[in-house]
Amino acid sequence: MPSRKSSQNVRSKKNNLPFGGYKRSLELATAGMVEILDIERLVRLIVYMIVKKVRLTHVGILLYNDAKKSYVLTSSKGKKGSVIPKEYIRMENDDVIIKFFAERTNYLINRSGAIRKEDLLKYLKKGTVNNSLRDCIGQLRAEMEDYDVDALVPGYFQTKNLLGILFLGKKSNGSRFQQEELDFFMALARTAVMAIRNAQLYKNIQKIFYGIIKAMSLSIEKFDPDFTRPHMDRMFDMAASMVVKLERRGVVFPDIPKELFISSIFLHDIGKQYTPKEILYKEGPLTQGEWAILKKHPVDGAEIFEQIDGLEEVAAIIRYHQEKFDGSGYPEGLKGYKIPLGARIATIVDSFDAMTHSRPYRKAPFSIEDAVAELIKNKNKQFDPDLVDVFVEVLAEKGMLKDGGGSSKVGHIFNKLLSPRTVA
Ligand SMILES: [Fe+2]
Ligand SMILES: [Fe+2]
Repeated sequence: MPSRKSSQNVRSKKNNLPFGGYKRSLELATAGMVEILDIERLVRLIVYMIVKKVRLTHVGILLYNDAKKSYVLTSSKGKKGSVIPKEYIRMENDDVIIKFFAERTNYLINRSGAIRKEDLLKYLKKGTVNNSLRDCIGQLRAEMEDYDVDALVPGYFQTKNLLGILFLGKKSNGSRFQQEELDFFMALARTAVMAIRNAQLYKNIQKIFYGIIKAMSLSIEKFDPDFTRPHMDRMFDMAASMVVKLERRGVVFPDIPKELFISSIFLHDIGKQYTPKEILYKEGPLTQGEWAILKKHPVDGAEIFEQIDGLEEVAAIIRYHQEKFDGSGYPEGLKGYKIPLGARIATIVDSFDAMTHSRPYRKAPFSIEDAVAELIKNKNKQFDPDLVDVFVEVLAEKGMLKDGGGSSKVGHIFNKLLSPRTVA
C-alpha cells in the first residue's frame, strides 16, 4: 500500500500536469467515436465530452454544411450566459475565420494549427506582419472576443479541406491553454474529423440505398401502374404505421435502418414483374402450372436484392412474405418466428389489402370489418397473432374501423385488442 506521503505526491504531480488529468479520460471517451453513425449525435457527444472533461465555460462546433454551402454552429454547450446559441454563427467561405484556417495562415501563428487569443497578440507584435494579415488577425481577435472563446481548433479532412472549427471557451479554473494542450486538441480534432466523415459516408450510402429503392419502385410503376403500384403504396403506409407502433412498444428491429425495413415491405411484390400478366389478372381459378409460376415471385424479387451486399435483410423480407405462421406457406414453409419480422408484418398487411381492394378480375371480397375478422380467425394459422393485434390497433387509430370498432360485429374483439399488449 503506498504511504500517505507518496499518494499525496502522486496527487500533486497530477495537478501539475498541463492537462489537469483530463487527457487520458478524453482519449478513452473519444476512442469509440467512429462507431457512431448519426452525425448530430456524434457532434453533440464531442462537445459534451470536452465541456465535461476539460471543464470549460463553453464549447461549440462550427461544421461545414453541404446543403447550406456554409459553416454553421452545429452544436454548442456550456454555462448559461456563456453558451453561444446553436445556428447563431453561420460563416461563408469568404468569412475571415474560414479563410484564415482554410488558407492555413494559422500554422504561421501557432505550429500546432490551433490558435489561442494570446498567440494572435504575440504575432502582431512582430514588426514583419503585412497590413492585410494584420487586418485579418485583428478581425479574428474581434470575433474571438465576441464569442468569448480562448482558442480555435480547426479540423481538416485529408489534410486539405477545412471540415470545421472547434470553439473553446475559457477554462473554468481560470488557467490558460498550454501548447501541449493545443497539440492534443489538434489530434482530437483529427479523430473527430474521421468520425464525422465516417458518419457522413454512411449517410451517403443510405442515400444510395434509397435511390436504388426509388429506381426499383419506378420499374413497378412501369410494369403495373394501376394495381401493383397502388397496392404497394398502401402497403408502405400501413407498414410504416405498424413499425412506428412496434417501435414505441420497444420492439427492436434488425440491423437495418427503419426506413429501409419499411421500404423492404413496400417492395415485397417486386418479383411479380416476372409473372406473366395473363396469370396475374386471370379471371377464375389458376391451373397448377400457373400457380407454380405465380409462386416464384418472392424468390424472383429476393434474388434482385441478394446481389447487393448489406441488403440481406431486405432480400429476406421479400423472399418470405408469403410464408405462413403455421408453416404452410411458400417458398420454404418456414414456421413461426423463423419467418423474419418484416415478412410477418408484410403478410398481414398484404392479405388485408388484397381482401379490401378490387382487382381487375374481381371486386373487393371483404368489408374492412370482415377482413379484420378474417385476420383474427387466422391468427396462429396464417398470421403472427400478436402482430394481428397490433395491426387492428393501427386500423382503429387511423379511424378505419366503424365507431373505432365499438359497434361493429367484431367490436368486442377490437375493444379487447385495444388494451396495451406486448409483442414478442
Ligand atoms: Fe406476394
Ligand atoms: Fe402483395
